[in-house]
Amino acid sequence: MLLQLPDVLSSAEVEAFRARLAGAEWVDGRATAGHQSAQVKRNHQLAVEDPLAVELGERIARALGQMPDFVSAALPKRIYPPMVSRYRAGSGERFGTHVDNAIRYDPRGTMRADLSATLFLSDPESYDGGVLTIEDQFGPRGVKLPAGHMVLYPSSSLHSVAPLTRGERVTAVFWVQSLIRDEVVRRSLFDLDRAIQSIAGEWPDDPRVLALTNVYHNLVRASAEP
Ligand code: NI
Repeated sequence: MLLQLPDVLSSAEVEAFRARLAGAEWVDGRATAGHQSAQVKRNHQLAVEDPLAVELGERIARALGQMPDFVSAALPKRIYPPMVSRYRAGSGERFGTHVDNAIRYDPRGTMRADLSATLFLSDPESYDGGVLTIEDQFGPRGVKLPAGHMVLYPSSSLHSVAPLTRGERVTAVFWVQSLIRDEVVRRSLFDLDRAIQSIAGEWPDDPRVLALTNVYHNLVRASAEP
């Protein structure tokens, strides 16, 4: 599943963060890469503990908590602080095809990465190239979204970021541990919830909506890790 979430951050918020990021301290992205991804990762990023990255992470987590589509698709248990990443044209920066580490180590505790997320902070018109390609079961899919929008996809997917031929691309990349470990079960719960919402929209008082909602919650109860 590959889910696009529009307007996680408003244009004004993106603008404000971007202005502050211009003066930030960027370090070599290989600092946090695993063995395989270090071979293909060429970019810069903020240190995870950089106050600006922390603030951006808290703002994103707050926004996502209020987005029913995100909550339903991810059923999040924990959100890892974001890696604020920058790619520039003409510097050979890119991120070749790789897989994200299954386990992320964080001072607050170790977590499993079930879902990967990229929140775009640069306007797509401001750069060429830099497309994020995600390989799902239907083949490779290119993603380049407006600033403030986000894509959520299984951490089990191979993915890459192409080199830029113009401009600069800044994103916040982070990981989610889901209460539902199994990807098929998580996806099915999302589909079921969407179907219930759609039926409830047409027949809000139909008792079968309540029955199906009960089924949904009982399935979550049965499959969620505490
Ligand atoms: Ni990745």
